[in-house]
Amino acid sequence: MEAEIVKLELCDFEKCGNIWDLQKHSDLAEQFYREMREGIRSTFVYRIDGEFIGEISMVTESDDPDYTVPGKRVYLSRLIVKDIYRRQGIGRKLTDFVIQNAAERGYSEMSVGVDLDNYPALKLYYEAGFDTILFVGEDEWGKFVKLLKRL
Ligand SMILES: CC(C)(COP(=O)(O)OP(=O)(O)OC[C@H]1O[C@@H](n2cnc3c(N)ncnc32)[C@H](O)[C@@H]1OP(=O)(O)O)[C@@H](O)C(=O)NCCC(=O)NCCS
Repeated sequence: MEAEIVKLELCDFEKCGNIWDLQKHSDLAEQFYREMREGIRSTFVYRIDGEFIGEISMVTESDDPDYTVPGKRVYLSRLIVKDIYRRQGIGRKLTDFVIQNAAERGYSEMSVGVDLDNYPALKLYYEAGFDTILFVGEDEWGKFVKLLKRL
């Protein structure tokens, strides 16, 4: 069995449909594709024997200064692991990978937004060092928090 984390190329974007439903979430899929094409979103996928199992992204530009500060702070976005592969350490490996990648690219801070009822993700991010609360608020999907990690 060969497991690896690779950068997602635009031509392989549709293969993420193995992880989440691109048709059902077409607005998100279009946004992510556009941001990848513009070069402000880098997406990495976890593959096992070539099959797409999980993904994570790093976004360098947004209109929210909590999430991105040019040259300093990047935003961790869209961490997801295909449901039958969860609790095997893949989400943590993807998170560690993107943290290291951001540090290597010279960024000193990483932010993430997470719903307050998403205990698995909150626990994962806290254990990965996202220990500063930037903001607590509510949007159409419910209460959420913005967290920060210093790299
Ligand atoms: C959040 C998510 C990415 C975690 O992926 P994963 O591969 O299952 O996570 P890992 O196996 O690497 O778990 C790492 C740590 O996170 C915590 N964690 C993950 N899932 C958990 C769960 N269901 N219950 C409690 N803790 C959990 C644990 O501390 C775990 O460490 P441990 O297994 O040593 O106890 C996955 O549940 C997922 O895809 N959820 C849906 C999408 C989502 O909510 N993404 C986050 C958006 S902000």
